[in-house]
Amino acid sequence: MTIRTKITGTGMYVPDRVVTNKDLEELMDTSDEWIRQRSGIVERRYVSEGQLPADLAEAACRQALEAAELDADQIDCIVLATLSSQADFPGTSFFLQERFGGTLPCFDLRAQCTGFLYSLMVARSLVASGQYQRVMVVGCEVHSTGLDFSTEGRDVTVLFGDGAGAVIVEANTDEDDRSDILEVRLHAEGKYAKKLWVEAPGTGLPGRITQEMMDRGAHFPSMQGKFVFKHAVTRMPQVLRETLDAASVKIDDVALFLFHQANLRINEYVANHLEIPAEKLRNNIQRYGNCSAASIPILLAEAEREGILKRGDLVSMTGFGSGFSWGSAVVRW
Ligand code: UT7
Repeated sequence: MTIRTKITGTGMYVPDRVVTNKDLEELMDTSDEWIRQRSGIVERRYVSEGQLPADLAEAACRQALEAAELDADQIDCIVLATLSSQADFPGTSFFLQERFGGTLPCFDLRAQCTGFLYSLMVARSLVASGQYQRVMVVGCEVHSTGLDFSTEGRDVTVLFGDGAGAVIVEANTDEDDRSDILEVRLHAEGKYAKKLWVEAPGTGLPGRITQEMMDRGAHFPSMQGKFVFKHAVTRMPQVLRETLDAASVKIDDVALFLFHQANLRINEYVANHLEIPAEKLRNNIQRYGNCSAASIPILLAEAEREGILKRGDLVSMTGFGSGFSWGSAVVRW
């Protein structure tokens, strides 16, 4: 990589509507105690009627642009990571692009809970190759409109929330500025695609969805929770180490670790395993649940706003999710 890349702005948006575990108790056979103990989640945010993925993404992007002191017309490309697309096609990125006008290219990237890290790799490559100067990356999810709120769906439904997080990736040509996306390492294992998925609608199905499928809830997410958990706690430390090694960075040198927010127990397990001190690990699953591709950029934006992230610091980000997909990035802020 010849041109270094810098994250010059971060932004986030979560809907105003707070849904507590107690609220979910009214809808299904679950309990605040079960949800807190198993996942760490206390509440999550849901969109209000009429609020669209592009609304969430736009708010996060405008904040990131402001932080980077840029206008939208200075951006060369938008990469939007999502598993909950606003329409079947085109991608959510096009509904977002409309908000900024012009003919700025954009595309959606589908790598589920690792989508932000996959997008960061793409943005870094586009900028480092000299193809573009500035790429806006946004992770955006609206899960709440596609969950099963009956007791049958409780294992998955209680875990997810809506939100968006964005970053601006720019070329860093200042020789005195060490900021750089140092390494991104990605992996996938498609043989486990059905361990965490939404089966329908799908183009491999006649009519894309049948009444029988609707009746058995094939349009809702399904997950083999324990199986996913086991893989997450194995793959996350592996890829985190691989990425730090590739960048010649030691765990002790990292100021802040941000993990995908699927389960507080997963994150604590991984941190313990790698002997990462609790004060270097930041979580927000308690407040937002699992926002898939948006979880890591929301964490980043919050950390920056709270002054936890300082220029020159090393920050490590790691995720695991449906696909299976997993990855890690290390950034000199
Ligand atoms: O973001 C993408 C990656 N996702 C993940 O990494 C998630 C990984 N998996 C997990 O985080 C955990 O497996 C869960 C939080 C999903 C579930 O925790 P668990 O300790 O693995 O529970 P379980 O699925 O084995 O379920 C235990 C019991 C079951 O009852 P029985 O069979 O023991 O009687 C479930 O039916 O808990 C029951 N249960 C619930 N009870 C109350 C499942 N969901 C709920 C619920 N409320 N919402």
